[in-house]
Amino acid sequence: EPKVILADPIGFCFGVERAVNLLEEALKVHGKVYCIGSPIHNPQETARLENKGLVVVDSGEEIPNGSAVFVRAHGLPEGDRRELLNRGHSLIDGTCPFVFKAQKKASFLISQGYRVLILGDKDHPEVKAITQHLGERSSVVLPGEPLPEEVSGGKVGIISQTTQRLEDLANLVQLVVPKASELRVYNTICGATEARQKAVAELAGITDGVVVIGGKNSANTRKLFEIALERNNQAIWIEEASELDWRWLEGKSIIGVAAGASTPDWLIDDFLKLLGKAKGVVKEDGR
Ligand code: F3S
Repeated sequence: EPKVILADPIGFCFGVERAVNLLEEALKVHGKVYCIGSPIHNPQETARLENKGLVVVDSGEEIPNGSAVFVRAHGLPEGDRRELLNRGHSLIDGTCPFVFKAQKKASFLISQGYRVLILGDKDHPEVKAITQHLGERSSVVLPGEPLPEEVSGGKVGIISQTTQRLEDLANLVQLVVPKASELRVYNTICGATEARQKAVAELAGITDGVVVIGGKNSANTRKLFEIALERNNQAIWIEEASELDWRWLEGKSIIGVAAGASTPDWLIDDFLKLLGKAKGVVKEDGR
């Protein structure tokens, strides 16, 4: 039996845990709660919640008026939120407080006459939730992308998608300093993503192989797997314990286990049980 080391931090980040707890409470109260799109990028956890009364729909039109509707950790654009309220729904707001902070800072900057520049991916729901109601007065750039024309000359406020890297934010600021007449920066990065990435990199360096647990539709889990693979080609990515190919364990005396920010504890525990270990037996040092 190989020795097992867990990445630390592992699994649910603060915001996702909070959101799932709110949803569970709401399911107890309302019996049925709707969500537009999956509440979390994890098929097994979504299925578990569906068993408790969650109903996942593709669009708001499918929800009968006056229902209970869950808002995911990514948040919702202001317009969509208003529309849901207009239809008489009660909202269970799982918006992560860090995401909410970024939204507030963006609105504040606009109210003070700044053009808002967002470091991030314009197609990500979290970024869309910010830009949708700012319209023309905001621009979005990915790390390394050229600056949009509009930032030249005026007052510019910078914020970041919560999952970006601090280093990239610092680089962006450096690019804007010579262009803007005035610059205000809010660091709205949440450390959860980077901490998980750092932990898996360390783990890959000290183990014979790393098992990454998480949804195949989870971008942050994919990133963990890529990092593990880069440093240790003995990395595998599974959604649940039953997917483990036992031959993979052959010849390995020490393995690492990591999980994305959308992976619930019970999936990690299931896997550890399968290995005959209890969660928390061995923890990676330091974090
Ligand atoms: Fe919130 Fe950070 Fe998680 S923004 S949802 S705690 S990755």
